[in-house]
Amino acid sequence: MSANLYRSIGDLKGFSLKNCPPMSEPSGVLMCPPDHFQILSVKNPFMSSHVGAVDRDKARRQWDELVAAFEKAGCPVSLVPATPGLEDMVFAANSSLAGTRPDGEKVALLSSMRHTSRRKETEAFGAWYEANGYRVARLKPGGHETFEGSGDAVWHPGKRLIWGGHGFRTDPAMFEQVAEIFKTPVIQLKLVNERFYHLDTCFCPLTPEAVLIYPSAFDAASLELILKIFPIVITSSESDAVSRMACNASVWRSKTAIIQKGAAAAAGHMRAMGLSVVEVDTSEFVKSGGSVYCMKQSLF
Ligand code: ARG
Repeated sequence: MSANLYRSIGDLKGFSLKNCPPMSEPSGVLMCPPDHFQILSVKNPFMSSHVGAVDRDKARRQWDELVAAFEKAGCPVSLVPATPGLEDMVFAANSSLAGTRPDGEKVALLSSMRHTSRRKETEAFGAWYEANGYRVARLKPGGHETFEGSGDAVWHPGKRLIWGGHGFRTDPAMFEQVAEIFKTPVIQLKLVNERFYHLDTCFCPLTPEAVLIYPSAFDAASLELILKIFPIVITSSESDAVSRMACNASVWRSKTAIIQKGAAAAAGHMRAMGLSVVEVDTSEFVKSGGSVYCMKQSLF
């Protein structure tokens, strides 16, 4: 196994967060308007009772408010135009992973999506990256392995370290390529509960030291890894995690957390950590299994 991949605490010999080089904070986010957002088929348990049930006008208002919340937090928002026929493109986290390499080069790795209906999203995002100063990297051709970008690959705040989730949408073998492309170690976490099908549904770093998780989404070895690396591990209640996708909050530069409204316990923990908390309503998107975090891609 490559020295850059960690799957259990036994692999961590010699690894510590303190020794991870610093990594620049995101410079902004990339989002895609919900012009063609719909629920056409069931790709995750959230969607099962909502086929055909999106209120498109309400979704648009909620998305506009989310854009305004990012901007008010001081986070610049860039936009990719929505492609007709791509009903999940509003979930901008999934079709790529953006970041920098240690030499400062900006790279965007395009995903290999599990569902055929989402596969064309990657090229639309790729065109945006090419026009905006990123080198676009692609996974090696061949095989049927999948990788769903920032949905399953989460940068540790301020550190050259990626947390990689697998089990439902991303194949663990892909993290070897992720580690190589970004020249960054990857700590792998196995997801075992299909309601938490992407890492960003159950794992939300708040600061370099603190993370909010939904514990039963992970296997035991993964929980040990999280507890070993983060000095502060906060757990979400089941109702916040399931009904309000609290762990899919997005934290801007360890200062402002933007979170689905009504996740009272999670928001309280965030305030106790010194974050300012902005509540938004993403209910139309939660029907599809996504909230704040996955409606944007972090840019660097
Ligand atoms: N309906 C989308 C899907 O199942 C939702 C994706 C939400 N993204 C996320 N990173 N959680 O693919």
